[in-house]
Amino acid sequence: MLPSADQNEILRRRTFAIISHPDAGKTTLTEKLLLYGGAIHVAGAVKSNKIRKTATSDWMEIEKQRGISVATSVMGFDYSGYHINILDTPGHQDFAEDTFRTLTAVDSAIVVIDSAKGVETQTRRLMEVCRMRKTPVMVFINKMDREGKDPFDLMDEAEKELGIHCTPVTWANGQGLKFESVFALNNRPAEMSEKMQEDMEIIDEVYPTFDREAYLRGDLAPVFFGSAYKTVGVQELLDFLVANAPAPLPVTAEEREVEPMEDKFTAFCFKIHANMDPNHRSCIAFFKICSGKFLRNTYYYHVRKDQQMRFAAPTCFMAQKKETVDEAFAGDVVGLPDTGNFKIGDTLTAGEHLHFKGLPSFSPEMFKYIDNADPMKQKQLEKGVNQLMDEGVAQLFISQLNGRKIIGTVGQLQFEVIQYRLEHEYQAKCKWQNLPMYKACWIESDDDAELDMFLKRKAQYMAKDKEGRDVFMADSAYVLSMAQQDYKHIKFHFTSEF
Ligand code: G4P
Repeated sequence: MLPSADQNEILRRRTFAIISHPDAGKTTLTEKLLLYGGAIHVAGAVKSNKIRKTATSDWMEIEKQRGISVATSVMGFDYSGYHINILDTPGHQDFAEDTFRTLTAVDSAIVVIDSAKGVETQTRRLMEVCRMRKTPVMVFINKMDREGKDPFDLMDEAEKELGIHCTPVTWANGQGLKFESVFALNNRPAEMSEKMQEDMEIIDEVYPTFDREAYLRGDLAPVFFGSAYKTVGVQELLDFLVANAPAPLPVTAEEREVEPMEDKFTAFCFKIHANMDPNHRSCIAFFKICSGKFLRNTYYYHVRKDQQMRFAAPTCFMAQKKETVDEAFAGDVVGLPDTGNFKIGDTLTAGEHLHFKGLPSFSPEMFKYIDNADPMKQKQLEKGVNQLMDEGVAQLFISQLNGRKIIGTVGQLQFEVIQYRLEHEYQAKCKWQNLPMYKACWIESDDDAELDMFLKRKAQYMAKDKEGRDVFMADSAYVLSMAQQDYKHIKFHFTSEF
C-alpha cells in the first residue's frame, strides 16, 4: 500500500470527461469549471480548443486546431480540496474514436444537453459507450436561458434516449427570458409560484431521491439545469460532482484487477497525439495512471516491448499549460513524448507483466481499399500504415476474398489524414478505392459447424482484423439483420472487445 499522504492524493482526484453533441455548450461549461478552479481568469480562454464549424472540410485546419488542443487535452485544476482532471473529447464526429477511447480513461462523465435540441445523435452514441462501461454520468441541461423544451419532457427524453434513470438535483426558476436562477431541490425557496409548486409536487411524486450507489453503478443520472453561458447552475454541478463522483476506480487487466492504492505504478496508453509538423515526427502518448505514483526519470517496464524505459520530460496538464511533472498519481494522465515506441493500449508497470483491457476498437462505418501508388515505396507504405493504425487513426482489415488491405474509419476525414501523413512522414503514396460497406462487426460462436457454414457462405464479405480475428463486412443494414436472423448461434459484436 502507498503511504497515506499519497493515498490522500489519489482519493481527492476526480477524473471525468464532458460529452455532448457539438454546440450543446461543452466548451463553455468546461471554461466555467476552470474559472471556478481559478485555473483561468478570463472567459474565452478555452475557445481555441474547439474545432470551428467553418473548418469542417479542411482537415489541415482541424489538425492545426487539434494541435493547439494538445494543451487542453487534459485540464487539471484544484477546487475545494479536490484535484480535478477534465479529459477533453473532440466534438467533431470524425474523431469519435478518439472520444470513445478517452472515455476508457475517465472515472465518470458529464453529459451536456441543449435544452432546445434535447438529446442529439453524437450524445446518444457516446452514451452507449458509457453504458457499456457502466460509467457513472451526470446530466447538465444547458441553455435554460433560451426558449427550450419543457424540463419534464427533457428528462423523459434523457431517460429514454440515453437509457438511464434520471433524477433532478436542481431545478430552474423559469426558462428562456424568464430564466433567473436554479435552486437545489433539497433546499427549496420559501416563496414559490403556483406553477413551481406544481412542479415540485410532480418531482416528489415521480422521481426517486438521489441514490449514490445507483449513480456509481451507472444506473441513475442526477440531472442539473442551468446556463453555462450565464454561469448559472455550474457551481451546483461542480460541488455535487466533487462530493459524489468516484475517486479513481479499480481497472481490470487481463491478469487481475488493479487497485488505485497499490504502491506499484501501472498505466495504460489511451491516446497518441501526433505532431502534424512533418519535421518533428514526435508524438505525445497519453497514459492514464491506474495505480500508485509515477516519478520522472524512473525506469518503468514497457510490457509489450519487454523493455525498461524512463522519461525525462513527462508532462501533465494544468489548465492550459503543459508542464513537466516530477510526480503524478493514480487518476492522473501523463503525456510522454514518444518517437514511435507506443501503441494505443500499451501498458507501463513497475515490472509486472500486466495487460490492461478495455480499449476496444469500434465498428467502423466507412471503408476503402488502400493500394500502393508508388511501386518503389512499398516498404514505406507498409510501415506507415502499420504505425498509423497503432496510433489509432483508423483500423486495418484484410479482405479474405482478395487479400487486399481495407482501411475502416468513422469519418471521411481520416482518409485524408492518412494520405497526407503517409506522404509527409513516410514518403509513401497511396490510392483509395471506395468500398461501399455498411458496417464491420466481429463475429464469434460456440457452434463450430454454424460458424464454418457462415464463413463459407459469406466468404466474400469476410475479413481479418490486425489480430487475425474474423470480421463480417455487411454491405447494408438489411444484410446484417438477415445474417443475425439466419445465424442464431453467431454473435455479432460492434466493438472488438467481447
Ligand atoms: P460545444 O463546445 O459543445 O460545441 O459548444 P460551445 O460551448 O462552443 O457553445 C456553442 C454555442 O452555444 C456558443 O455560441 C455558446 O456561446 C453558446 N452557449 C453555450 N452555453 C450557452 C448557454 O447556456 N446559453 C446560451 N444562450 N448560449 C450558450 P456561438 O454563437 O457559437 O459562439 P460564441 O460567439 O458565443 O463564442
